[in-house]
Amino acid sequence: MKITNICCIGAGYVGGPTMAIIAQKCPNIKVMVVDLNQERIALWNDADVTKIPIYEPGLSDVVAEARGRNLFFSTEVDRAIEDAQLIFISVNTPTKTYGLGKGMAADLKYIELCARQIARVATSDKIVVEKSTLPVRTAEVLKNILEHTGSGVKFQILSNPEFLAEGTAVQDLLQPDRVLIGGDTTPEGEKAIQALVDVYANWVPNDRILTTNVWSSELSKLTANAFLAQRVSSINAMSELCEKTGADVNEVARAIGMDSRIGSKFLKSSVGFGGSCFQKDILNLVYIAKSYGLNEVADYWEQVIIMNDHQKRRFANTIVQTLYNTVSDKKITFFGWAFKKDTNDTRESAAIYVADYLLNEQSKIAVYDPQVKESQIQKDLNYLETRSLEANKKGVTCFEDPYLACQEAHAIAVLTEWDAFKSLDWQRIYDSMKKPAFIFDGRNLLDEKKMRDIGFVYQAIGK
Ligand code: NAD
Ligand code: UGA
Repeated sequence: MKITNICCIGAGYVGGPTMAIIAQKCPNIKVMVVDLNQERIALWNDADVTKIPIYEPGLSDVVAEARGRNLFFSTEVDRAIEDAQLIFISVNTPTKTYGLGKGMAADLKYIELCARQIARVATSDKIVVEKSTLPVRTAEVLKNILEHTGSGVKFQILSNPEFLAEGTAVQDLLQPDRVLIGGDTTPEGEKAIQALVDVYANWVPNDRILTTNVWSSELSKLTANAFLAQRVSSINAMSELCEKTGADVNEVARAIGMDSRIGSKFLKSSVGFGGSCFQKDILNLVYIAKSYGLNEVADYWEQVIIMNDHQKRRFANTIVQTLYNTVSDKKITFFGWAFKKDTNDTRESAAIYVADYLLNEQSKIAVYDPQVKESQIQKDLNYLETRSLEANKKGVTCFEDPYLACQEAHAIAVLTEWDAFKSLDWQRIYDSMKKPAFIFDGRNLLDEKKMRDIGFVYQAIGK
């Protein structure tokens, strides 16, 4: 089957960039991205392409090229489903906040709603593709819902997890390490797999397109995120030991990373990993393991999260201890709020938890982040429900100018590794701060010698 009409349900961090690249690379395929969120769709359609709702280097150019040609954004979900031969489901799958599995399991209500909507609307055969990250065996649930419509319409379900990282999404999509497609081993299943392979083959070399059974594909996605997060927690565990022993975590990372069996990537010690997925996916893995009675497996992976929580707390606690055991009414400036550089995404960012800890100690926080808006920062803090909206407003002030953010501050905490922070006028910043002027570098970003030469009391993770 040749695919000429694709629909993607969910215009978020995955659906938006992924479909933009498919549309760019496959001009003969019509790609319709739909979402219930009208505001988000309006931004995707904004005449000023720099206003698209997701900040990713290079993305606005891709959207500018394909939008209106074969890439469209709409809130008309039913119509898009009806028209499409192949439907990607890219909706969110957050950790459950209620009921059985609360705080652990993935909440599949949005996925199920999509399946029910597809079942209700479709009048012709469809390939339904799981793009969202899902617990292993979710395809079974989708199949159950889709096969009981009584309409005679046939569905094939594929798993095609997304491995892009935010901040490098365009590059990751253009040159993926691999594209993974899981499907049934029946003749119909194989035909569906081939149809999706043919879409990717427009720009991805064949040897990078991997096909497996559905369950392997679903579980590979959770496994990849668990392994990546585990590396960060492993180096962060060593960072604490480095601080006690006089070893330098950067030197240790370099030394072990040169072992080709270990590899050099993902060994950057930090204030802790954030983002919408690592924690959610590991908790989900832990939940799945427990549900099969595999308690040792569950405990093993849970430790990755425990270590990460410890790292965030430890960083905040070091600030308090170093500032003479009190930060009450002291201004502390956060450089960065996003969970990593080159994104405006703040979900599960370490900055949120460090801020919460310091606000409990009655600190006054100033934030400068080149891409995150004040309203988002307040939303992130209010979501924790630690204190009133007014208290969060009073405790945190946002600045659009990094120099103003630092005036009269007792300390700076680097929470996000934005490149631009390195080239600021640090002498000017030092001059405007209270003395002694402290820097707590949660990203090992700044030049230690330079900062010390200026006069800062400089502390970095793992040194
Ligand atoms: P997101 O919250 O940015 O986007 C999801 C979108 O789906 C939202 O805009 C929401 O309004 C929409 N939506 C929900 N239910 C809908 C429905 N019934 N009909 C229409 N629209 C609906 O989420 P995201 O970051 O894009 O993540 C989506 C999935 O992809 C998750 O499972 C996530 O784990 C996975 N994933 C995310 C990333 C990432 O970098 N963010 C990377 C790989 C995989
Ligand atoms: C991660 C994976 O890298 C993607 O492959 C996956 O598709 C995605 O999750 C997902 O499923 O959502 P992402 O969370 O966007 O991507 O970003 P990462 O680059 O993985 O960073 C995650 C967090 O770990 C960030 O807070 C980052 O600062 C931190 N990190 C990363 C470190 O602290 N040290 C490192 O060495 C690497």
